[in-house]
Amino acid sequence: MSRIMALRAAGGGRSRGTRGFDATVAQPARVYDYWLGGKDNFAADRIAGQETIAAYPAIRSSARANRAFLARAVSYLAGKASVRQFLDIGAGLPVAPNTHEVAQSIAPQSRVIYVDNDPMVLSHGRALAVGSPPGVTAYVDADLRDPGAILTQAAPILDFTQPVAILLLAVLDYLADLDQARQIVARLLAAVPPGSFLVISHGASDIDPDQTAEMIRRLNKHLAEVNYVGRPHNVVTRFFDGLDMVGPGVVKVTQWHPRSEIEHKAPAALWAGVARKPDAHHPNQARDHHPPQNDPGSMCRGKTRS
Ligand SMILES: C[S@@+](CC[C@H](N)C(=O)[O-])C[C@H]1O[C@@H](n2cnc3c(N)ncnc32)[C@H](O)[C@@H]1O
Repeated sequence: MSRIMALRAAGGGRSRGTRGFDATVAQPARVYDYWLGGKDNFAADRIAGQETIAAYPAIRSSARANRAFLARAVSYLAGKASVRQFLDIGAGLPVAPNTHEVAQSIAPQSRVIYVDNDPMVLSHGRALAVGSPPGVTAYVDADLRDPGAILTQAAPILDFTQPVAILLLAVLDYLADLDQARQIVARLLAAVPPGSFLVISHGASDIDPDQTAEMIRRLNKHLAEVNYVGRPHNVVTRFFDGLDMVGPGVVKVTQWHPRSEIEHKAPAALWAGVARKPDAHHPNQARDHHPPQNDPGSMCRGKTRS
């Protein structure tokens, strides 16, 4: 069994913005669980789930495709990229295969920290006692809007002189303020050394735009504390500015190295990408070639497409 730890904000209290438990109001983690066909949700979440599915039935396959992307990206990072440290923020309720399961199956010594501000995610995470030594799996009760608290709590577990993969999957969507979201990504990237990676998946506003807009309108009617926003391809791409994109760049979540033609063609309304923080003295400032579609080892410098 790997070492599983649950960490709290310094002082034992909640870090800024961490939510309390409320079964009567839909929560992002539990609605997502409903879309995935899980059982960790309440009536309020199911109503939100059903109304959003009615507006955009492909939200279910989008959620499944997002989990499949998580597994493929972590598999690439732990395998070909030899990353041994993972900071999975907005981790959600456990759905196998989870980040630590994928990473530790490839490199048992992988150290994985899950971060979420939903208390139900934390309690389920504590119960998830699987893995293999000498890996470490920890859960941090913190809010993405307070990256300093996340980094402080991660510091006893992660060695910030060594590469870290920062995973932000389907969570920047819950930061309606784009400038704030960009600043948070920049703050996290500043804390990790060259050779670290950024992985993002993000709800798309420019895939099936009419249906997704209605789905989002219905979802936000049910979410009390946060607003979900979809963003277009060029805006999601800009989160990777200054990084070396892993091929094929920012693509539909199903098209990032799909393992089958069926996976490639499945409906999904999310953009996704993986990028590497370049070495300090990178020889080229802005390589603009596009790497071969099927080579996740190929890279080009992330840049704005708008
Ligand atoms: C749609 S789920 C995504 C789960 C997982 N990352 C995935 O892609 O499968 C979004 C998660 O982000 C969490 N979340 C939303 N806003 C957050 C915030 N400000 N800080 C930390 N977690 C947040 C929610 O509680 C939820 O668990």
